[in-house]
Amino acid sequence: MTAAPRRVAILISGGGSNMLRLVESMVGDHPARPVLVLSNDPAATGLEKARALGVPTAAVDHRPFAGDRAAFEAALLQPLLAARPDIVCLAGFMRVLTPDFVARFAGRMLNIHPSLLPKYPGLHTHQRALDAGDAEAGCTVHEVTADLDAGPALGQARVPVLPGDSADSLSARVLAMEHRLYPAVLRRFAAGDRTPVSLP
Ligand code: GRF
Repeated sequence: MTAAPRRVAILISGGGSNMLRLVESMVGDHPARPVLVLSNDPAATGLEKARALGVPTAAVDHRPFAGDRAAFEAALLQPLLAARPDIVCLAGFMRVLTPDFVARFAGRMLNIHPSLLPKYPGLHTHQRALDAGDAEAGCTVHEVTADLDAGPALGQARVPVLPGDSADSLSARVLAMEHRLYPAVLRRFAAGDRTPVSLP
């Protein structure tokens, strides 16, 4: 009797390219299956892509809650808890979550961040790496904790910074690695293995 697959909810804010790779990876003998794609933006184009793959979706627009983060999160929790997720993956999700929300999913919420954490938490990571003259950049999948972009790393992928790189060209190179790293980390994490993934 094989164990029931782990139920994975994925939160997005936009195109959801990482979400797509996660959904596409959860097939066959993968120990997890997607049960919900949830967005803070009803117009997020990732929602239609998820529906096309047969994944249930929901959206809770954060704008009517302007400023009342707790009220937005209470609304967000409705469809999220209804999906009974074992694991929550933030994938291009651009809202900062409160410690109370994060605590509900302690040890089972992941995020992908486009830098080699602990370098460059927050925004504009690629431009900051270029401005610093870094020889390499990359992305990190980490457990989400109350401290923004600071939870234990579950995987990292490195790319070279090339002469003439712009934030856009570097971002594209890193994104291609995000699409390999996140599915690799999720598969290991869903199997109960927290050994960090390192790419290439
Ligand atoms: C990517 O740059 C990723 O690093 C960050 O959100 C951006 C968009 O991701 N987490 P996606 O295409 O919506 O997955």
